Amino acid sequence: MKTQVAIIGGGPSGLLLSQLLNRAGIATVVLERQTRAHVLSRIRAGVLEQGTVRMLHEAGCGARMEKEGHPHHGCYLSTAEGRFRVDFTEACGREVMVYGQTEMTRDLYEAQDAIGATILHEVSDVVLHDVETGNPHVTFTKDGQSHRLDCDWIAGCDGFHGVSRKTIPETVRKEFERVYPFGWLGILSRTKPAADELVYANHPRGFALASMRNDALSRYYIQVPLTDKVEDWSDAAFWDELRARLPADVAAALETGTSIEKSIAPLRSFVSEPMRWGRLFLVGDAAHIVPPTGAKGLNLAVSDVHYLYEALVAAQSGDMSGVEHYSDRALKRVWAAMRFSWWMTSILHRFPDQSTFDQRIQETELHMLRDVPSAQETMARNYVGLPF
Ligand code: APR
Ligand code: PHB
Repeated sequence: MKTQVAIIGGGPSGLLLSQLLNRAGIATVVLERQTRAHVLSRIRAGVLEQGTVRMLHEAGCGARMEKEGHPHHGCYLSTAEGRFRVDFTEACGREVMVYGQTEMTRDLYEAQDAIGATILHEVSDVVLHDVETGNPHVTFTKDGQSHRLDCDWIAGCDGFHGVSRKTIPETVRKEFERVYPFGWLGILSRTKPAADELVYANHPRGFALASMRNDALSRYYIQVPLTDKVEDWSDAAFWDELRARLPADVAAALETGTSIEKSIAPLRSFVSEPMRWGRLFLVGDAAHIVPPTGAKGLNLAVSDVHYLYEALVAAQSGDMSGVEHYSDRALKRVWAAMRFSWWMTSILHRFPDQSTFDQRIQETELHMLRDVPSAQETMARNYVGLPF
């Protein structure tokens, strides 16, 4: 087999890159470990930055998002003293789009089917070869048969647990990590959202978030100790704890129901540098992980895709500047989002070893967000998405 760009991983990064490159006349093959149904069964965040909205339109996949997505012009934050709103549009003239990553992935799959893109599911034993040469190739197993895919470039879109990052020699890779001492217990329920916009709550009992997918599908999270297991939490116990942490008026409006998905996710900040090694590019979660507090995971994957897409199109006509600067360009934005996600996590959660000084600093950060327009503008600009 031969193609121009071998894409390892068929999640949001891989599918969006495949869609954009094929529309630009560049041939790709996507190698995905799971089934399409498994990829579409994943419940992930649902806040799209404006740049992500733009890229979906550029990929020809924005129609359903515009029809079913919900523009949000602000969000609420709450402390024990009550809740306040940060108005994104007033602070920086922009907004976000609330539209589930699962729906975005579904739209990407449909668009890929429409152009006859090559996506091989249930592949295994993926190995990247000769990435430091001009003739890289990938070997893999599919339906019990071994295959070889020759290519010009390899995009490692295979997430945190993929093979691509580890193909870069350990002696070359520099990894930066912070693991947070708590997790997020999340519930998806077919209930009316408790508020019209997202509510991020800093409460003495711990962090909580009230989010949504649409007017009849709500997504809620509460901070839990890393020792907790999903089976420790009945739906009733979850709803009680969520009510205790949300602002009183939001708690009073909370419509509870049976969870259709319930899971605990750990929180980490992670970056692996560089994001390029020879003909291999790391994209999305393969290169970096953010705590979900700032809703940056999917949006960072999209900006990586944007930089790589532009680089590979330019390389077609011999302009290699995008290829050479991909890692530096992507990492500049990655670290800005890493900082914002760390900051949001730091001011909203209760840390086990937090001192009274730390508590006062959290309160001061939140009061500044409540009272100081320049603080609100900085948060808004980062939340709606820095330019790329
Ligand atoms: N071979 C082939 N495919 C693989 C391999 C492998 N060795 N390892 C992982 N994969 C596939 C996974 O099955 C998954 O479908 O790569 C894909 C990686 O997708 P994601 O983990 O979703 O990462 P990415 O596409 O970068 O999207 C980032 O997704 O997980 C969320 O929070 C994350 O919102 C962020 C977004
Ligand atoms: C979600 O809707 O799943 C969500 C929204 C905002 C976040 C994290 C998760 O910061």
